Amino acid sequence: MHLPDHITKTAEFVQKKLEGESSGHDWWHTLRVWNMAKRLAGQTDAAYNIHVIELSALLHDIADHKLHDGDVSIGPKTARKWLEQLGVDEHIIQHVTDIIQNLSFKGAEVETPMKTLEGKIVQDADRLDAIGAIGIARAFAYGGYKLRGLYNPNIPPTMHASFEAYKNDQGHTINHFYEKLFLLKDRMNTPMAKEIAKERHLFMEEYIARFLKEWDDK
Ligand code: ADP
Ligand code: NI
Repeated sequence: MHLPDHITKTAEFVQKKLEGESSGHDWWHTLRVWNMAKRLAGQTDAAYNIHVIELSALLHDIADHKLHDGDVSIGPKTARKWLEQLGVDEHIIQHVTDIIQNLSFKGAEVETPMKTLEGKIVQDADRLDAIGAIGIARAFAYGGYKLRGLYNPNIPPTMHASFEAYKNDQGHTINHFYEKLFLLKDRMNTPMAKEIAKERHLFMEEYIARFLKEWDDK
Protein backbone atom coordinates (compact mmCIF):
# COMPACT_ATOMS: atom_id res chain seq x y z
CA MET A 1 0.00 0.00 0.00
CA HIS A 2 1.08 3.59 -0.68
CA LEU A 3 2.24 5.80 2.19
CA PRO A 4 -0.41 8.50 1.56
CA ASP A 5 -3.03 5.74 1.90
CA HIS A 6 -1.49 4.85 5.25
CA ILE A 7 -2.04 8.41 6.37
CA THR A 8 -5.70 8.53 5.31
CA LYS A 9 -6.36 5.15 6.93
CA THR A 10 -4.56 6.24 10.11
CA ALA A 11 -6.58 9.48 10.29
CA GLU A 12 -9.81 7.46 10.03
CA PHE A 13 -8.62 5.02 12.70
CA VAL A 14 -7.67 7.80 15.12
CA GLN A 15 -10.83 9.79 14.47
CA LYS A 16 -12.97 6.76 15.34
CA LYS A 17 -10.97 6.03 18.44
CA LEU A 18 -10.80 9.58 19.86
CA GLU A 19 -14.19 10.94 18.83
CA GLY A 20 -16.21 12.05 21.85
CA GLU A 21 -13.18 12.03 24.16
CA SER A 22 -13.74 14.71 26.82
CA SER A 23 -10.41 15.45 28.50
CA GLY A 24 -9.07 17.71 25.73
CA HIS A 25 -7.39 14.78 23.96
CA ASP A 26 -10.13 14.36 21.40
CA TRP A 27 -9.91 13.97 17.63
CA TRP A 28 -10.00 17.76 17.15
CA HIS A 29 -6.82 18.09 19.22
CA THR A 30 -5.15 15.49 17.02
CA LEU A 31 -6.42 17.21 13.87
CA ARG A 32 -4.99 20.58 15.03
CA VAL A 33 -1.65 18.97 15.88
CA TRP A 34 -1.56 17.22 12.50
CA ASN A 35 -2.26 20.50 10.65
CA MET A 36 0.21 22.49 12.75
CA ALA A 37 2.91 19.84 12.25
CA LYS A 38 2.47 20.11 8.47
CA ARG A 39 2.63 23.91 8.71
CA LEU A 40 5.82 23.86 10.82
CA ALA A 41 7.38 21.32 8.46
CA GLY A 42 6.64 23.64 5.52
CA GLN A 43 8.70 26.36 7.22
CA THR A 44 11.94 24.44 7.49
CA ASP A 45 14.61 24.10 4.81
CA ALA A 46 16.19 21.01 6.36
CA ALA A 47 15.35 17.53 5.08
CA TYR A 48 12.62 15.59 6.85
CA ASN A 49 10.32 12.65 6.29
CA ILE A 50 6.79 14.04 6.04
CA HIS A 51 5.22 10.59 6.48
CA VAL A 52 6.96 10.15 9.83
CA ILE A 53 5.71 13.59 10.89
CA GLU A 54 2.13 12.95 9.83
CA LEU A 55 1.91 9.44 11.29
CA SER A 56 3.43 10.60 14.59
CA ALA A 57 1.11 13.61 14.83
CA LEU A 58 -1.90 11.43 14.09
CA LEU A 59 -0.99 8.65 16.51
CA HIS A 60 0.61 10.70 19.31
CA ASP A 61 -2.42 10.62 21.65
CA ILE A 62 -3.89 7.29 20.54
CA ALA A 63 -3.44 5.96 24.10
CA ASP A 64 -2.12 8.71 26.39
CA HIS A 65 -0.48 7.60 29.66
CA LYS A 66 -2.50 10.25 31.53
CA LEU A 67 -5.69 8.44 30.59
CA HIS A 68 -4.29 4.92 31.08
CA ASP A 69 -3.14 4.79 34.70
CA GLY A 70 0.22 6.37 33.88
CA ASP A 71 1.25 3.54 31.53
CA VAL A 72 3.72 5.20 29.14
CA SER A 73 4.21 2.11 26.99
CA ILE A 74 0.60 1.78 25.86
CA GLY A 75 0.76 4.66 23.34
CA PRO A 76 3.81 3.43 21.40
CA LYS A 77 2.50 -0.17 21.61
CA THR A 78 -0.92 0.73 20.21
CA ALA A 79 0.70 2.78 17.43
CA ARG A 80 3.10 -0.08 16.56
CA LYS A 81 0.30 -2.62 16.35
CA TRP A 82 -1.68 -0.38 14.02
CA LEU A 83 1.28 0.45 11.75
CA GLU A 84 2.39 -3.19 11.55
CA GLN A 85 -1.08 -4.20 10.53
CA LEU A 86 -0.94 -1.55 7.77
CA GLY A 87 2.36 -2.99 6.57
CA VAL A 88 4.43 0.15 7.19
CA ASP A 89 8.24 -0.30 7.01
CA GLU A 90 9.93 -1.21 10.28
CA HIS A 91 12.31 1.77 10.25
CA ILE A 92 9.34 4.15 9.96
CA ILE A 93 7.47 2.34 12.73
CA GLN A 94 10.54 2.58 14.94
CA HIS A 95 10.89 6.32 14.32
CA VAL A 96 7.19 7.03 14.89
CA THR A 97 6.99 5.01 18.12
CA ASP A 98 10.18 6.68 19.34
CA ILE A 99 8.61 10.09 18.82
CA ILE A 100 5.38 9.10 20.58
CA GLN A 101 7.37 7.71 23.50
CA ASN A 102 9.34 10.94 24.01
CA LEU A 103 6.72 13.55 23.13
CA SER A 104 5.01 14.12 26.44
CA PHE A 105 5.87 16.77 29.01
CA LYS A 106 7.17 15.00 32.10
CA GLY A 107 7.73 17.72 34.70
CA ALA A 108 9.25 21.22 35.03
CA GLU A 109 12.71 19.88 35.85
CA VAL A 110 12.58 16.87 33.52
CA GLU A 111 14.11 17.22 30.06
CA THR A 112 12.40 15.50 27.14
CA PRO A 113 14.72 16.14 24.19
CA MET A 114 13.69 15.01 20.72
CA LYS A 115 16.43 13.37 18.68
CA THR A 116 15.15 14.08 15.19
CA LEU A 117 13.70 17.05 13.34
CA GLU A 118 10.50 15.06 12.75
CA GLY A 119 10.16 14.61 16.53
CA LYS A 120 10.93 18.25 17.25
CA ILE A 121 8.22 19.39 14.85
CA VAL A 122 5.52 17.09 16.25
CA GLN A 123 6.47 18.01 19.83
CA ASP A 124 6.18 21.71 18.97
CA ALA A 125 2.80 21.19 17.31
CA ASP A 126 1.50 19.29 20.36
CA ARG A 127 2.83 21.92 22.75
CA LEU A 128 1.37 24.82 20.78
CA ASP A 129 -2.05 23.22 21.28
CA ALA A 130 -1.51 23.23 25.05
CA ILE A 131 -1.10 27.02 25.21
CA GLY A 132 -3.15 30.07 24.20
CA ALA A 133 -6.95 30.21 24.24
CA ILE A 134 -7.32 26.56 23.28
CA GLY A 135 -4.67 25.53 25.80
CA ILE A 136 -6.64 27.27 28.56
CA ALA A 137 -9.84 25.47 27.54
CA ARG A 138 -8.02 22.13 27.42
CA ALA A 139 -6.43 22.62 30.84
CA PHE A 140 -9.80 23.19 32.52
CA ALA A 141 -11.41 20.38 30.54
CA TYR A 142 -8.65 18.04 31.71
CA GLY A 143 -8.92 19.29 35.30
CA GLY A 144 -12.67 18.66 35.28
CA TYR A 145 -12.19 15.22 33.77
CA LYS A 146 -9.75 14.40 36.59
CA LEU A 147 -12.10 15.94 39.20
CA ARG A 148 -9.64 18.69 40.06
CA GLY A 149 -10.59 22.09 41.42
CA LEU A 150 -10.17 25.28 39.40
CA TYR A 151 -7.97 26.97 41.97
CA ASN A 152 -6.93 26.86 45.60
CA PRO A 153 -4.76 29.75 46.83
CA ASN A 154 -3.51 27.56 49.70
CA ILE A 155 -1.82 25.07 47.38
CA PRO A 156 1.18 26.63 45.60
CA PRO A 157 2.67 25.16 42.40
CA THR A 158 5.48 22.59 42.50
CA MET A 159 8.36 22.41 40.01
CA HIS A 160 8.38 18.64 39.61
CA ALA A 161 11.82 17.08 39.53
CA SER A 162 10.66 13.66 38.34
CA PHE A 163 8.02 12.25 36.03
CA GLU A 164 6.60 10.21 38.95
CA ALA A 165 6.06 13.36 41.01
CA TYR A 166 4.53 15.23 38.06
CA LYS A 167 2.22 12.34 37.21
CA ASN A 168 0.97 11.85 40.75
CA ASP A 169 0.29 15.50 41.52
CA GLN A 170 -3.37 16.13 42.32
CA GLY A 171 -3.16 19.94 42.34
CA HIS A 172 -5.73 22.37 40.99
CA THR A 173 -5.73 23.56 37.40
CA ILE A 174 -4.30 27.08 37.95
CA ASN A 175 -1.13 25.40 39.24
CA HIS A 176 -0.81 23.59 35.93
CA PHE A 177 -0.12 26.92 34.23
CA TYR A 178 2.93 27.48 36.44
CA GLU A 179 4.02 23.83 36.43
CA LYS A 180 3.82 23.34 32.68
CA LEU A 181 1.98 25.76 30.40
CA PHE A 182 4.05 28.90 31.11
CA LEU A 183 7.25 26.89 30.58
CA LEU A 184 6.40 25.74 27.08
CA LYS A 185 7.29 28.87 25.11
CA ASP A 186 10.97 28.48 26.06
CA ARG A 187 10.94 24.79 25.18
CA MET A 188 9.84 25.11 21.57
CA ASN A 189 12.30 23.50 19.17
CA THR A 190 11.69 25.29 15.86
CA PRO A 191 11.86 29.06 15.12
CA MET A 192 8.31 29.16 13.72
CA ALA A 193 6.86 27.49 16.84
CA LYS A 194 8.79 29.93 19.04
CA GLU A 195 7.12 32.81 17.19
CA ILE A 196 3.60 31.38 17.46
CA ALA A 197 4.18 30.52 21.13
CA LYS A 198 5.02 34.11 22.08
CA GLU A 199 1.57 35.46 21.35
CA ARG A 200 -0.25 32.49 22.85
CA HIS A 201 1.89 32.81 25.97
CA LEU A 202 1.04 36.50 26.39
CA PHE A 203 -2.65 35.73 26.13
CA MET A 204 -2.39 33.08 28.86
CA GLU A 205 -0.54 35.52 31.12
CA GLU A 206 -3.29 38.10 30.65
CA TYR A 207 -5.91 35.48 31.32
CA ILE A 208 -4.31 34.26 34.56
CA ALA A 209 -3.72 37.82 35.77
CA ARG A 210 -7.40 38.52 35.23
CA PHE A 211 -8.49 35.29 36.88
CA LEU A 212 -6.47 36.13 40.00
CA LYS A 213 -7.70 39.70 40.02
CA GLU A 214 -11.34 38.59 39.92
CA TRP A 215 -10.62 36.02 42.62
CA ASP A 216 -9.62 38.83 44.95
CA ASP A 217 -12.39 41.27 43.90
CA LYS A 218 -14.32 41.98 47.03
P1 ADP B 1 1.47 16.12 26.94
O1 ADP B 1 1.61 14.74 26.41
O2 ADP B 1 2.70 16.96 26.84
O3 ADP B 1 0.87 16.14 28.33
P2 ADP B 1 -1.02 16.31 25.57
O4 ADP B 1 -1.29 16.53 24.13
O5 ADP B 1 -1.27 14.97 26.12
O6 ADP B 1 0.46 16.79 25.94
O7 ADP B 1 -1.91 17.36 26.28
C1 ADP B 1 -1.86 17.64 27.57
C2 ADP B 1 -3.09 18.43 27.85
O8 ADP B 1 -3.60 18.04 29.10
C3 ADP B 1 -2.75 19.89 27.92
O9 ADP B 1 -3.67 20.69 27.27
C4 ADP B 1 -2.70 20.14 29.40
O10 ADP B 1 -3.08 21.43 29.72
C5 ADP B 1 -3.63 19.12 29.97
N1 ADP B 1 -3.14 18.70 31.26
C6 ADP B 1 -2.22 17.78 31.56
N2 ADP B 1 -2.01 17.70 32.90
C7 ADP B 1 -2.85 18.60 33.44
C8 ADP B 1 -3.14 19.03 34.77
N3 ADP B 1 -2.50 18.50 35.81
N4 ADP B 1 -4.06 20.00 34.93
C9 ADP B 1 -4.68 20.53 33.88
N5 ADP B 1 -4.47 20.19 32.61
C10 ADP B 1 -3.57 19.24 32.39
NI1 NI C 1 -1.41 15.80 22.33
